[in-house]
Amino acid sequence: MYHFDAPALWINDPNGTIQYRVWHHMFYQHNPYGAAWGNMHWGHARSRDLVNWEHLPIALWPSKEKGEEHVFSGGAILGPDGRPRVFYTSIGKRDPEQWMAIPKDDDLITWEKSPANPILTTKVHKQKIYEWRDPFLFRDGKQTYMVCGGNIDPRGGYGEVQLYQAKNAELTQWEHRGAMFRNPDRTVWNIECPNFFRLGSQWVLLTSPQRPCEYFVGDFDPAEPRFTPRRWGVLDPGAAYASNIIFDDQRRCLLLLWSNTRTPEERGWCGAMVMPRVLIIGEDGHLKQSPAPEFEKLRTDETVMENVSLNNASVEGRLAAEAMEIGATFDITTAASVGLEIYGTPIAFDAGSGWVTVGDEEKIFAGREKTITLRAFLDRRMLEVYAKGCALVHLMDEGEPGVRIFARDGAATLRSLRAWRMKPAESSMAGYRI
Ligand code: FRU
Repeated sequence: MYHFDAPALWINDPNGTIQYRVWHHMFYQHNPYGAAWGNMHWGHARSRDLVNWEHLPIALWPSKEKGEEHVFSGGAILGPDGRPRVFYTSIGKRDPEQWMAIPKDDDLITWEKSPANPILTTKVHKQKIYEWRDPFLFRDGKQTYMVCGGNIDPRGGYGEVQLYQAKNAELTQWEHRGAMFRNPDRTVWNIECPNFFRLGSQWVLLTSPQRPCEYFVGDFDPAEPRFTPRRWGVLDPGAAYASNIIFDDQRRCLLLLWSNTRTPEERGWCGAMVMPRVLIIGEDGHLKQSPAPEFEKLRTDETVMENVSLNNASVEGRLAAEAMEIGATFDITTAASVGLEIYGTPIAFDAGSGWVTVGDEEKIFAGREKTITLRAFLDRRMLEVYAKGCALVHLMDEGEPGVRIFARDGAATLRSLRAWRMKPAESSMAGYRI
């Protein structure tokens, strides 16, 4: 109800996300012929506030006459005329190629594929790169760079990020600079959707390693080229995948992620975007995520609870809505764990270990604390949980409506709870026929 979704059918990765002339543009992997993965096109929508979206016509589709079968994921950057360019991986019965498209209007409705395509082929490499895809663009000083994912040994251990440098202002000529990063974990066999960008004084790499997304924070030496991570963490251990980012006009770094909702195909749709998140680097050098504050406009029917003592007990909340936001702060005296149970799904903070467990096994690390704030956003089957800058998307099982607040094995106080029913976001088709 407030998670962005395609008008119908299948959606996966956010692509080419950019704010341009006030609008946030969301392109996305889309199958316009079915509710399962296939026939990759770039769907398109725009929003002024990251909450309410206007669907726009499909932006890119495979050029069958040129042997293209899928328009895979990619990124956007401003071109020499001040308008965005998008880059994506072109898939056909040949090796993958990187292609560029140029908009014909400032609403980014109509796109022309560059006559210079392919702008990069596998010939640029000295070594074979498997699963070579998902261009992401960034600038450092006067230079424009692209990173792509892939691996150099499909048996495992060599998931890499390749770096390319633009050789002309039109961004049609590129040089391969080398592998700037290899995942140190040998069980990572491939890297998809790498995002690389400066955040404050640090560089951040986000990877989608065919398991939960990871982040690395560190230093970048473009001369080598080498990215040296100093911090590492799991970006979201739940159902979120395939990141992309936007630097917006408030100079915020926004994170977009897709969630496979595992909706049965016969329902006619599958997948949704995670609520856009604001990214910062915390004092400990780790990445911190919080939901975009714009979602506060959907709050209605507030419930407030204060200073409730919890002794090995559960308190029944008065909340039972399919779409709600809950923020709860607990002071722990002797309790082993405290938390919320939402429609039967527990969100439990274990004071001894510092982990917050959502459902049976998905966990985010909040650290050992005596006071903990848990934030939860329910949107029917999607539950997003935030604690101490960590975040998790959980797909809910069916459960009894309602919220319970608990302390286990000892005493704790619910210092405060504020909860709201959330209104549905607007999703307009007005722009579909522009
Ligand atoms: C990630 C991904 C990308 C690819 C796209 C295809 O989910 O596998 O690597 O470009 O999806 O839809």
